[in-house]
Parts: sequence; structure tokens; C-alpha cells
Amino acid sequence: MTAAPTDGAPFVVVANRLPVDRTVSPDGTIDWRTSPGGLVTALEPVMRAKGGAWVGWHGAPDETVDEFEHDGFTVVPVPLSAQEVNEYYEGFSNATLWPLYHDSVAFPEFHREWWDSYQLVNQRFAERAAEVAGPGATVWVQDYQLHLVPTMLRELRPDLKIGFFLHIPFPPVELFHQIPWRRQLLGGLMGADLVGFQVPGGAQNFLRLARRHAPEKVTVKGSEITLGDGRVAVAKAFPISIDTDGFRELAESDEVKAEARQLREDLGNPKVIFLGVDRLDYTKGLRQRIRAMGELFAEGKLDPSEAVLLQVATPSRERVEEYKRLRDDIDLLVGRINSEVGGVGRSAIVYRHASFPRHTMAAMYSIADVMVVTPLRDGMNLVAKEYIACHGSDDGALVLSEFAGAALELKQAYLVNPYDLNGMKETLMQAATDGPRVRRRRMSALRRQVSEHTIDRWAQNFLDTLDEVARAHG
Ligand code: ADP
Ligand code: F6P
Repeated sequence: MTAAPTDGAPFVVVANRLPVDRTVSPDGTIDWRTSPGGLVTALEPVMRAKGGAWVGWHGAPDETVDEFEHDGFTVVPVPLSAQEVNEYYEGFSNATLWPLYHDSVAFPEFHREWWDSYQLVNQRFAERAAEVAGPGATVWVQDYQLHLVPTMLRELRPDLKIGFFLHIPFPPVELFHQIPWRRQLLGGLMGADLVGFQVPGGAQNFLRLARRHAPEKVTVKGSEITLGDGRVAVAKAFPISIDTDGFRELAESDEVKAEARQLREDLGNPKVIFLGVDRLDYTKGLRQRIRAMGELFAEGKLDPSEAVLLQVATPSRERVEEYKRLRDDIDLLVGRINSEVGGVGRSAIVYRHASFPRHTMAAMYSIADVMVVTPLRDGMNLVAKEYIACHGSDDGALVLSEFAGAALELKQAYLVNPYDLNGMKETLMQAATDGPRVRRRRMSALRRQVSEHTIDRWAQNFLDTLDEVARAHG
């Protein structure tokens, strides 16, 4: 057991990533950049409002970095060695759990050394959280990289209220079964008082698995799991969202409006702008989306002098094999399409493999006539919500995969099955050509949804439920 530090933080977030990533350039200059991904986009405004401590890895291997203050909260960096980055992060987290949890759209690999490293690193995160959390603090553990932390942390600090939220899908029993360490992973989560999922199906999968594979005898009733010692863990869905007002205000600022005008001009003032924004990840359905758009151009349904697909993709997990393959595939596909369609002017597909500042993202969203979000499987997909918040006028359209968690909430989007290329092509054309009344009706319903369901409300809802569960069963 670890003694509670009397001056510790009353609220602690524990995530693999910190909100900022440390980069060291070849000349030794140190820089901190916003970390990639939806988890940081969602949680940063929560931390800014609540304060406390954020425990996480700073993105660079073999470096120890001291705590520091950032935007009103304390950043607590956890070091990882190069070997741990390889085995715990790129290996077990992103080449075992990530593909398996996303319907096995890529083949998950199982290696015992990766698992050993995963346990070791989870223990380190739990110990660091135990050191920084004040007496009776709330500790909120995030995502699949840290499945074991809730139970490890409870052993160190039984006085804490522990929540866990999974940002990605939680797989069906048949897939989860394959994992040699399934009992330990489930047991890890059961250390939390409240386990949150993006959609009800994820919570149901977890409860079903708990019944069959918990490491100890448990009773499952409704959303409650009663453990051997009488403690109760609750599993429920809490669909995550964004700082809707923050995005809207940014998009309405004069700077972003000017940037949007410039961007449109740089693209040659096309009549229709299709936009894709993703981490370069094989779950995002980029191959399917680009093929569908390429065929529409090749068949003459879209005229490259009038329409463009602007696709931006943030570099992600670049040393993992599947990600290297994806990068090459997309480079080839885009190059081939652009060499085959259109005249000598601007390309039909404008593709940038880069990360852009938030204001540029807002400018892109505001000029996009059709936002194309086509993951093969996605926990939620915040890009879809950011588009709705930033696209001020009612003339936009959101094409959204049925396999994104967001599809359960954004019912007025143009829903597609990304595996059905012809269906997707038809829907892309419909979204681009529907009359203003239809588009307005759909967009205003989407805007209402995103305005009402904000990140503040999500965090409040989760933390209130955590308080209730801990009070009732603690
Ligand atoms: P994931 O968490 O899997 O990456 P989400 O759609 O939930 O997927 O979140 C992606 C986040 O990354 C969004 O906040 C989006 O704005 C941001 N993002 C995606 N692509 C880029 C890019 N090229 N430059 C900057 N930010 C990006
Ligand atoms: O939301 C999914 C997620 O995997 C987060 O856990 C993660 O922070 C983000 O996407 C980006 O991935 P990574 O941290 O591996 O760069």
C-alpha cells in the first residue's frame, strides 16, 4: 500500500499520452506539441476546467522529464524505455489490442514479451498515480493501453475513487476470447468503480465477458458486477463529445474566416470540396474512401475541375508494420488517381500527410461542403463532431460510417457502409447534390445534437455516476 500524500491532487487523469508531446530536433532544440488523437482533444478542456494532475507518457523514449504546470493543471510525465515503447506501446497496445478491438480489421499479434512489458508499464503508471493522488481523490484511467491500472492502483490506494473509460470499441466475446491474457485484462478493469464505454454494445460485451471469464467468482446483474469481496463495479455507456462552443467560436473568429477564404482560393475555388481528416490509421477506411472518390472522378460523375477531395492525415504509430504499409498504399493510390484523372491544373485529390494546428483544422471544416468520415470501426470519431461544430452554414453534409460510435447519435448524417463501395459512391453523390432544404434539415438536427451533448456534459455525467457508485457501494 502507498501512503496518500496530504498535498496530492484531488483529481487525476491517467492516460498513456500526455496532452503535449516532447520532440527533440536534430540540433537538440526541444519542443512541446499537442499530442495526436481524440483522447487529448476531448480531455484537455476537462482538465483545463477542473485542474489536478495528468499522468502520462511524454512521447519520447529513454528520457526522464520533471513534472510541470500546463494550462492550469500539473503534467506528470512517466518515462518509457525504447524497448518498452516497442513492446508495450507499439506491440501489445497497438499491434495486439488495437487491431483486435477494431473487429480484427488487421491481424492481431500475440507475443509473451509484449504482455510482460504491458504489465510492467501498467504497474509503473499505477505507482505514479498512487504517488500524486490526494486522500480519497478521484482517479480517472483512460483507454486500452492501461487496462490493468485500476486493479493495480486499488491495491496501492484503496481509499481512491477509480473510474476507467475506454475510448475505442470493446469487442464481442468471440474476438476477446482469443487473447491469452483475457482474464487478467478483465480483472484489471474490475478494479474500477465505474467502467465507461462509448456505446451500450461495448458495456454489454464487457458484462457478458465478466460473467464467463472474470478471474474470480462474480455476480453480474444489470450493469453491476459484484466481486468476491462485496465490492461493486458498474459498466455503462458514456458517448464522448467535444468542446462544441470552443470549436464553434474558433471557426467564427476573423482569423479562421480569413484562413478559410485563403484555403478555398489555394484550392482554386472549386464548386464542391470533399474533406477527409484522420490519423493515418487502417481502421479509418482511407483505402475505401479514396478508391470510391477516385472511381467517381474516373467515371465522370465528379468533374475534377469543379470538385476536389482534400484529405489530411496525421502521422501515427509510424514504426508499426501495418501503418507503414498503409502509408505506402495511400501514397500509391492517390498518385495513381491523380495521374489518371483531370487536366494539368490542381489535382483531383489534394493529400497532405501532416498534422495541422487547430485553427487550420477549423478553417478546413468550415469550407468543406461534404465531410467524409468512413472508418471500418471507430469507438466514437470526434472529427465528425468537430465538423458539425465548425461548419457554420447549414449547407454542409456529413457522410458517416455506420461503424463509427458517432453513427448512433448523428442519425441525420448520410450513413454509409464503407465495405460497400458502390453504396458509398451513391451516398457521396447524394450528399454532394441534395437540395439546400434537405441539407439544412440534416445539418440543423446534427448541430442540435452536438450543441446539447458537449464534453463538459460527458465529464460531469461520468464523474457524477462515479460518485454515486462509490457512495452506494464503496
Ligand atoms: P482518433 O482518436 O482515433 O484519432 P478521433 O476522430 O476521435 O480519432 O480524433 C482525432 C483527433 O485528431 C481530432 O481531434 C482531430 O481534429 C485531430 N486530427 C486528425 N487529423 C489531424 C491533422 N491532420 N492535423 C491535426 N489534427 C488532426
Ligand atoms: O482514441 C484512441 C487513441 O488511441 C488514444 O488512446 C490515443 O491517445 C490516440 O488515439 C492517438 O494514438 P497514439 O497515442 O497511439 O498516437
